[in-house]
Amino acid sequence: NSRSSSSSSSSSSSSSSSSSFDHSNVLNIPFTGRKRSLIEDARRDREVASASPGPSPCGDNLVFEEKSGKVRLSVLFALKNEKNAGFFNAGKVFETFEVKLLHLESRPGRQSKNGLSDDLEFFLKCEVPSSDIDIFINSLKRVADDVRTVQDERGKLPWFPQKISDLDKCNHLVTKYNPDLDRDHPGFSDPEYRKRRTVITELAFNYKHGDPLPYVDYTAGELATWKEVYRTLTAIYPSHACTQFLEGLQQLERECGYGEDKIPQLRDVSAFLRGRTGFQLRPVAGLLSARDFLASLAFRVFQCTQYIRHSSAPMHSPEPDCCHELLGHIPMFTNTEFAQFSQEIGLASLGASDEDIEKLATLYWFTVEFGLCEQNGAVKAYGAGLLSSYGELLYSLSNEPEYRPFNPAETCIQPYQDHTYQPVYYVSQSFEDAKNKMRQFSSTIQKAFSIRYDPYTCSLEVLDDVSKIQKVLGHMMEDLKILHSALERLGQN
Ligand SMILES: [Fe+2]
Repeated sequence: NSRSSSSSSSSSSSSSSSSSFDHSNVLNIPFTGRKRSLIEDARRDREVASASPGPSPCGDNLVFEEKSGKVRLSVLFALKNEKNAGFFNAGKVFETFEVKLLHLESRPGRQSKNGLSDDLEFFLKCEVPSSDIDIFINSLKRVADDVRTVQDERGKLPWFPQKISDLDKCNHLVTKYNPDLDRDHPGFSDPEYRKRRTVITELAFNYKHGDPLPYVDYTAGELATWKEVYRTLTAIYPSHACTQFLEGLQQLERECGYGEDKIPQLRDVSAFLRGRTGFQLRPVAGLLSARDFLASLAFRVFQCTQYIRHSSAPMHSPEPDCCHELLGHIPMFTNTEFAQFSQEIGLASLGASDEDIEKLATLYWFTVEFGLCEQNGAVKAYGAGLLSSYGELLYSLSNEPEYRPFNPAETCIQPYQDHTYQPVYYVSQSFEDAKNKMRQFSSTIQKAFSIRYDPYTCSLEVLDDVSKIQKVLGHMMEDLKILHSALERLGQN
């Protein structure tokens, strides 16, 4: 049982940092079950990966393996002077295996620098049918010397989605908080609730990119839970939530049917967000792995649950539910700066190592979920984990917890708390500031390539050669011309 092992592993880290604040007595909000955390999922993935052998160099994990089964490879080989004919023989090998040359360069062989010979060394990048790699290399060894293959460094990286429809493949589910499995879940002993969860989960299981978002006909009981949550939380938002959140919620109430009497449908909310910040929603069947969840943010896609928490615990849910998504997260996604900040985390995660995924999941936890920010000399909440939990929202802005300035290098290794409220919260000066710091942090993540998101095609472009960079630069020049002409018009007027 994955839950019991993960639960015991994190209880030791949390016991030393437990707060003296008696949440349940003072605020009368029971903290039911543990909070679900991406960080723990990421840690488990890292531990599993380090315990098992890495991907086979020619295996299925090649990030740049094409659909047609081709793999990119870098090859070094030498041709000795007396084997000049080898150049043409090597060409024959490329021809035989239908190798596509992407890049070729030569340099004087090492010996020739001493004037001993005029051998040449060749370096080439090519695309090879993945099933032919071994035989291709062996054939090359017959006509050339010192043949060495350098698997494209990107080939060592985990697969990641490159276009928005690839998110259909990001479905590595973490099910430990499913009420079917978790005895601490408020709905564990309620068969009706579990049945309902299964029905709503099925909708998301069957969803594919491009389908209309599933519509859920919520029951009277579910609407009553929503109403209680909505009333309770909206009563303290004005004093506790940041202005961006309040403005977002007002827009949603005005233009997207938000209110205490109706649970907004993901379809309507997604359409609304797309028109504001380009964010869109995707229904999620269960709890995704940290890598999959963060990857979707790179495409401005937010994975949303559609079921609602159990009616016995309306003020707290150990896992994300529609109250958490619709009230905690969605208002913030109407804000341009916050949307960019979220996408930055997602882009940083693509192709990152398991260690870096764990750090990014921790940053996500202390910002998007439990972040605070300064506004007009006061501290306000912007994290969805706070804005969807009455008890923790009050606690986070009380005198109890410790505040630290948001600093990704420090925040990314901060132990988190999933048994009770956080002892430490990180405070951002502004989302602009948080975004800049996040971008700075991302640049320290070791990667062999740079990525640019193309909003027109909703796909990622790997900037791995000069011509691609020139093309992007061309687009930017066009944009600059528009800005230049706009400034000129302003001057004329
Ligand atoms: Fe969340």
